[in-house]
Amino acid sequence: MIDDANHYISEKKNSINQTFKPSAHFSAPIGWINDPNGFIFFRGEYHLFYQFYPYGSFWGPMHWGHAKTKDFVEWEHLPVALAPDMPYDKDGCFSGSAIVKDDTLWLMYTGNVVNNDGTVEQIQNMAYSKDGIHFEKIQENPVATGEILPAELVAADFRDPKLFEKDGRYYAVVAAKHKDEIGTVVLLGSDDLIKWNFESIFLKGQSHQGFMWECPDFFELDGQAYITVSPMRYERTEEDFINLNSTIAIAGQVDWDKKIFVQTAVSEIDHGHDFYAPQSLLDDKEQRIIIAWMHNWGRTVVPHELEHGWACNMTLPRILHKDGQKLRQEVPEAVVASFPELQVGDEVDCIGRLELDIQNDAVFRLGDESDYIEFGYQAGSVFIDRSQQKLTITGEEEWDISRRSVSIDAHHLQVFLDKNSLEIFVNYGQESLTSAIYLQGKKILQQVK
Ligand code: FRU
Repeated sequence: MIDDANHYISEKKNSINQTFKPSAHFSAPIGWINDPNGFIFFRGEYHLFYQFYPYGSFWGPMHWGHAKTKDFVEWEHLPVALAPDMPYDKDGCFSGSAIVKDDTLWLMYTGNVVNNDGTVEQIQNMAYSKDGIHFEKIQENPVATGEILPAELVAADFRDPKLFEKDGRYYAVVAAKHKDEIGTVVLLGSDDLIKWNFESIFLKGQSHQGFMWECPDFFELDGQAYITVSPMRYERTEEDFINLNSTIAIAGQVDWDKKIFVQTAVSEIDHGHDFYAPQSLLDDKEQRIIIAWMHNWGRTVVPHELEHGWACNMTLPRILHKDGQKLRQEVPEAVVASFPELQVGDEVDCIGRLELDIQNDAVFRLGDESDYIEFGYQAGSVFIDRSQQKLTITGEEEWDISRRSVSIDAHHLQVFLDKNSLEIFVNYGQESLTSAIYLQGKKILQQVK
């Protein structure tokens, strides 16, 4: 199945329509992508795997695509790493993560299995690679099934393991759903990456915090512990959690005796339309870097509707810093430098960056008279407004999603534009807004206020 996928990709990749295909953001050679997976620094390079369906611009049986980069500027596509070719992952190799042990690259991922009676099983599997390119699924799979979970959790919603090592032992935080419809993160433990035990319910959410927490991650920054998760239907407030599924950073402390995470603060990580399922790595410079999927479930997908043969891409990578109990995000210097600086009045045909010192309101328009988006700083908030984009994007939300904003006292905006996206970093990453955009006419940058 991997050979079929690789063969198909090399045969068909030149047939896709590149009109909106990002230039500086990571996207697959062809087909559909969602979550970043297995994001890791291995033998001097950053490896990114991703949820991948090569055969169409829509979600299908999940494979793991694979690429690597030295600097996040130039990417090299590698062969498909995993295909759903075993009984324990026959309906998809769902999200997971990577870890390096004895110079071998290990992956832990969720096998999605749909039984004949329609019931679903989500089970955890391992694969490894000596060369960082070809992966072998281990004979012991599956290494953890829903049977190890306490009865209060739903075994059919048990997915997206994120590996980490602590004090010589391996752990994975995994998404699980509580029977009372509340998102939880469970902790699994292992001495050898092969035999896994249930350790604890690491963190259970509150009832307004969504019914399933997809793609958990756990890390520490400057002594502050964080969990990041992507909750499905986090209850919206006036300005936050407007997307049906949000992405949050939960700050707290871990009680390692009880193996529980005690939450002290929650913040939405990004305030745009399209930022989901981020995953982080730690590199040789001790930088904690995240990358996320630049889309959101339940939304229409423009390149799919236009039959362009591909769909979705990743955000820019962001180095994380502790900012009180929140996260500050900084785009790596080499990536910043690869975006030519723009001036108001310029036509943007590919990529560009705006650096704006802000004193008063400042509103910008990108596009032509009849097809444009607006963004900027107005009445105490930074916003992105897609309401005048002709290729409209609709979602399952029952409310208007055309505008997203964040209240903040802004003094600087750093704006990255690519062929299908806009990312704004406010006050050097104190807040961010990330949105996909699809403008068909000339993209002229104007200041309108
Ligand atoms: C998140 C998610 C994961 C799952 C994967 C399937 O976007 O729903 O929970 O593993 O996508 O593609």
